[in-house]
Amino acid sequence: MKVAVLAGGRSSEHDVSLNSAAAVREGVAEAGHEVVDVLIERDGTWRHGDEVLALTPGGGLLGADVVFPVLHGPFGEDGTLQGLLELLDVPYVGAGVLASSLCMDKIVFKEVLAAADVPQVPYAGVHLARWRTEPEAVLRELAVLGTPVFVKPARLGSSVGIAKASSEAELGPALDGAFAHDSLVIVEGFSPGLEVECSVLGFGTAVEASVPGEIVLTGGADWYDYEAKYTDGGMELVVPARLDDRVIEDVRRLAVDTFVRVGCSGLARVDFFVEDGHRVLVNELNTLPGFTRTSVYPKLWEHSGLPLPQLCDRLVALAVE
Ligand code: DAL
Ligand code: MG
Repeated sequence: MKVAVLAGGRSSEHDVSLNSAAAVREGVAEAGHEVVDVLIERDGTWRHGDEVLALTPGGGLLGADVVFPVLHGPFGEDGTLQGLLELLDVPYVGAGVLASSLCMDKIVFKEVLAAADVPQVPYAGVHLARWRTEPEAVLRELAVLGTPVFVKPARLGSSVGIAKASSEAELGPALDGAFAHDSLVIVEGFSPGLEVECSVLGFGTAVEASVPGEIVLTGGADWYDYEAKYTDGGMELVVPARLDDRVIEDVRRLAVDTFVRVGCSGLARVDFFVEDGHRVLVNELNTLPGFTRTSVYPKLWEHSGLPLPQLCDRLVALAVE
């Protein structure tokens, strides 16, 4: 098949996307497909080599059978691009419009899981307008979460704009920092649990979970920030996660349940905390997780017996099912 691999994009995760797309391009080609490269520049221009692309509704994309958007964050992972691909009338890898936008917004995602009583860390959302007009009231309300807390732009990824506030005095500056990236911020209570991640693959009722892995920080970082994620030696992925078999199965089942509950398709990585060795909390779901050769998503599949070229092949096949 002819597979258009989209790389780059307008979000602050542009560089991560370039690295992810390089691995996907290789994997797709190794699986025997023809790759068509599309670079989306930071200003939103779409390029195929020297050609600047003009897109036409119903007109497809460069004659591709399938589009593989390897884009992270806003304008790639948040449903906007998926809407554009629907209008172009071309099949694409990954979640559709609703699931993409639902999972991009960490608050909406948590509200959907809360409605089903899925265990999560305590959290609160804050709008910029309210922070500007009633900062004291906001800080009072957030006090119930205690400290430390993680303060995050609600609709970004790769830990960009996130701060850990270890005291009430650090909360205001952390909020200001997150609001520099997004007008909506989520504040999450701290979990002392293990950070466990699980890769999911599938569509409809045929959804599979990988062996879960555990994130162990090795570079001296206090938490799993951008550097720990993307610097060599910043983290070690321990596979399988050091949990009892029964808890491993709980994680896998909850990963699949969460994927299905929010209407995902194709791929996702579900991130968890596991407290006291057995209490499994869902923290977030990434519809287009990091996909470099050393990223957690493909690594967990490799450990589960699915090497990267076969993984890419399965994802391409799922898109046209
Ligand atoms: N947002 C990054 C790419 C991830 O979740 O892996
Ligand atoms: Mg993420």
